[in-house]
Amino acid sequence: MRCVWQILQPPRVSATHLTTYLQGLCNKHTKITDLNGEVPHTAHSLDAIPGPTNWPLVGSLVELLRKGGLTRQHEALIDYHKKFGKIFRMKLGSFESVHIGAPCLLEALYRKEGSYPQRLEIKPWKAYRDLRKEAYGLLILEGKDWQRVRSAFQQKLMKPTEVVKLDNKINQVLEDFVGRIKNINRNGKIEDLYFELNKWSFETICLVLYDKRFGLLQEEVNEEAMNFITAVKTMMSTFGMMMVTPVELHRSLNTKTWQDHTAAWDRIFSTAKVYIDKKMKRDTNRAPDDLIGDILHHSCLSKKELYAAITELQIGGVETTANSMLWVIFNLSRNPGAQRKLLEEIRAVVPPEQDPCGKHLKSMPYLKACLKESMRLSPSVPFTSRTLDKDTVLGDYAIPKGTVLMINSHALGSNEAYFEDTKQFKPERWLRENSTINPFAYVPFGIGKRMCIGRRLAELQLQLAMCWVRMLYFEIVATDNEPLDVIHSGLLVPNRELPVAFIRR
Ligand code: HEM
Repeated sequence: MRCVWQILQPPRVSATHLTTYLQGLCNKHTKITDLNGEVPHTAHSLDAIPGPTNWPLVGSLVELLRKGGLTRQHEALIDYHKKFGKIFRMKLGSFESVHIGAPCLLEALYRKEGSYPQRLEIKPWKAYRDLRKEAYGLLILEGKDWQRVRSAFQQKLMKPTEVVKLDNKINQVLEDFVGRIKNINRNGKIEDLYFELNKWSFETICLVLYDKRFGLLQEEVNEEAMNFITAVKTMMSTFGMMMVTPVELHRSLNTKTWQDHTAAWDRIFSTAKVYIDKKMKRDTNRAPDDLIGDILHHSCLSKKELYAAITELQIGGVETTANSMLWVIFNLSRNPGAQRKLLEEIRAVVPPEQDPCGKHLKSMPYLKACLKESMRLSPSVPFTSRTLDKDTVLGDYAIPKGTVLMINSHALGSNEAYFEDTKQFKPERWLRENSTINPFAYVPFGIGKRMCIGRRLAELQLQLAMCWVRMLYFEIVATDNEPLDVIHSGLLVPNRELPVAFIRR
């Protein structure tokens, strides 16, 4: 079976990049010719894309609110794909987007994407950087500057043979995490498991990026660490409001949201800078697992660019990884059969006296399948976006430059057409020899040149965590079997404390 990464490599034949020419614009049909001179065909215009009723001023906002509002938007998107098919168009107030939820359309987008794909702007973050004259990182950079910074990090962070060198650092934190779970559980229950996972993930990424242990998993957390994690939480909880109301207004009125947001960024940047500076001052004899040290010393990026890029790696990596682990724990709790099989594999591969490492993971197909299946069934990030930088034909439609596309990864993973028994947790589906799963149906890390740069690190961290939690100490049991409601609050989260317990063997 070809894996997603193989499929996502740049196409070998550059001629397959179909540059489209829009000809003879008319209301419902647009004539398209590709540069290869292949047979021209007729594509429909944007107006012809189906979608929910677009009322004056509000668009489909009222309908979306009736479906449960923004916290239920992931479910509404699945409904709309069921109703309108692979592609639909929706307007919320003045914000218009085209939603795609079929592998063939994602593949078409991937093949036609230019050199500098763009996501939706995160204006509040840009406003802060502009205010303090700081640089932008990968999450908000665009164009050639994005590509320059991306290539400085890509070599190390997207290469499995490089990332695997981090297994020791990841294990150090996992050992503390498992110790903490042992100490703080009351009859197997952990109070605020999500926060504990966030601390684990935060501690790991800080060790990888800054070579610094913040001690978040200790009984007494020191003030600096607490302030740092609180600042990240505040920054994340204040920017949503400024995404839906003009950030310029918040800035000029100096609203509380703006003040809290800037104060949080100030703390994040000042802490990150201290540790990046310390790393930069260290001598050139670096340990083989000092991937970030190599980048700091060898890239041509300015100091400001490095501060911004590293800080954004940290922001991008903490909650996403913690959230994915939360869902792995939940899915294993509801599937004891899969848990048993996983334990058998772990025990067969990792000798009892050893820590799991990258080498062991190579022989653990079932563990990898469990992670994939969990990320399909319960992805952290339900969609990502692209702003088209040129007119593009997707399927039957000619979509103009500037259109915002939403790539609905959650809807794809929940579609019976691409995954049979879609609601069931079936790791085996990833192991079948003649698997028919389309790689573009599984995109929890996004697609193409702009896909998640922390993917390899996150996968390694999650796979090792699965070994640690299961291997020696705990059985994860469901404490009830009621359905679990999922809400969208930036990421997909359960709407109540996870009904699981960690039972010592
Ligand atoms: C399971 C954990 C994670 C998930 C589910 C996840 C998901 C995503 C997704 C969906 C995107 C958007 C990709 C696109 O638009 O095509 C993204 C981008 C990004 N992620 Fe992750 N991510 C995870 C872990 C991480 C980690 C550990 C880091 C840092 C080391 C990280 C850093 C970033 C950055 C910097 C970007 C922007 C990349 C760019 O635009 O060039 N992520 N992530």
